[in-house]
Amino acid sequence: MAIEIEKSTVKLSKVAVSDTHGENSPYFAGWKAYDENPFDGVHNPSGVIQMGLAENQVSFDLLEEYLEKQTEEASCGSGRISSFRENALFQDYHGLVSFRKAMASFMEQIRGGRAKFNPERIVITAGATAANELLTFILADPGDALLVPTPYYPGFDRDLRWRTGVKIIPVHCDSSNNFQVTPQALESAYEEAKSNNIKVRGILITNPSNPLGATIQRSILEEILEFAVRKNIHLVSDEIYSGSVFCSSEFISIAEILESRNYKDSERVHIVYSLSKDLGLPGFRVGTIYSYNDKVVTTARRMSSFTLISSQTQQLLASMLSDKNFTNKYIKTNRERLRKRYEMIIDGLKSAGIECLKGNAGLFCWMNLSQLLDKPTRECELELWNSILCEVKLNISPGSSCHCSEPGWFRVCFANMSEQTLEIALTRLHNFMQKRIQKSLF
Ligand SMILES: Cc1ncc(COP(=O)(O)O)c(C=O)c1O
Repeated sequence: MAIEIEKSTVKLSKVAVSDTHGENSPYFAGWKAYDENPFDGVHNPSGVIQMGLAENQVSFDLLEEYLEKQTEEASCGSGRISSFRENALFQDYHGLVSFRKAMASFMEQIRGGRAKFNPERIVITAGATAANELLTFILADPGDALLVPTPYYPGFDRDLRWRTGVKIIPVHCDSSNNFQVTPQALESAYEEAKSNNIKVRGILITNPSNPLGATIQRSILEEILEFAVRKNIHLVSDEIYSGSVFCSSEFISIAEILESRNYKDSERVHIVYSLSKDLGLPGFRVGTIYSYNDKVVTTARRMSSFTLISSQTQQLLASMLSDKNFTNKYIKTNRERLRKRYEMIIDGLKSAGIECLKGNAGLFCWMNLSQLLDKPTRECELELWNSILCEVKLNISPGSSCHCSEPGWFRVCFANMSEQTLEIALTRLHNFMQKRIQKSLF
């Protein structure tokens, strides 16, 4: 029998009652609409198709095949009992040496060997969510700010702000230069913070960008680093989609920029990575912080006690990531499949009369529907988003939920469903556009 609870008069903490978690945004409301009426090709063909979730399912078959084989081999081997005991008892916050080594080498492999990572600098965390929050705790005090270029991943509102009390100052980017960060935009965000007496402690970039699905050019990365040096602030580079760049040579990691300048100014640079996107394993909660600053590494490691990865997961992934035959094949096939999906969605949208920003990475595209807005406002963007959710039954993310200052842009995910479902989604959008065009003619 359910327990009936009276309306509570007991007070909770400021963090508990604060709404800086940002979960009341349309980004999460769309997920709810999907949960209540999820599409299923057979059982619910008129349900909502989830295109708001940056999940990678295109290479799941490769992982499943490998992990099943490995589990079988492990259960036939004689080491089963002793490894169970080791895993059950191991809880050192340094993590398994084998796992840190494998992770460092996988991060190098994704970058085509153009950057080196020292396993001693790898701090393990439960996903990039924990890594970003943990770094924010270390780099800034409550009331301080991080600059974040827009449009940005809606989860940052929660991860960087909620429990840390740190603010986000948006660095506004727009379509006039394909949403690239400019020195003027950085300077004006910095000045805005200063005029409000807010101390800026760092800048956080996402490369490749979520939601743009595009990598940041070398010259822009260099400018951002120069800016951080000039203002004496930190630079965090969230590179969680680095293995999902369709062509490896099109991605430049901040690690490469540092190598090319002999690690000058590297003590202010920190990289965040996780296996949630590139390997499609968000449920395993495997992330890392890679910092070039000794003090940050030591502190992050201490703090990681709150957010470790289970030893069993570390052991499983250490052996998979060290198997170069498997990782080479996986990375190559995954890139090819993502590119194919990207081309499929871009072509489908084009034939529906919709343009997207040119992308080269990630699990989504950045779609321009500004032509459908009655007025270029956030309200009109949300009206359109609501029609697409309720009439077309597609959950996509409105640009305003990514703090985009230019109304009419939407993030559309394409890797969390089958090709058939993507085709259905494209047909629905095509029909919606036809209806809108006809309506505008009369
Ligand atoms: C840019 C970015 N950072 C961090 C995360 C969180 O990733 P994780 O599942 O590893 O916590 C996401 C997830 O969508 C993301 O897009």
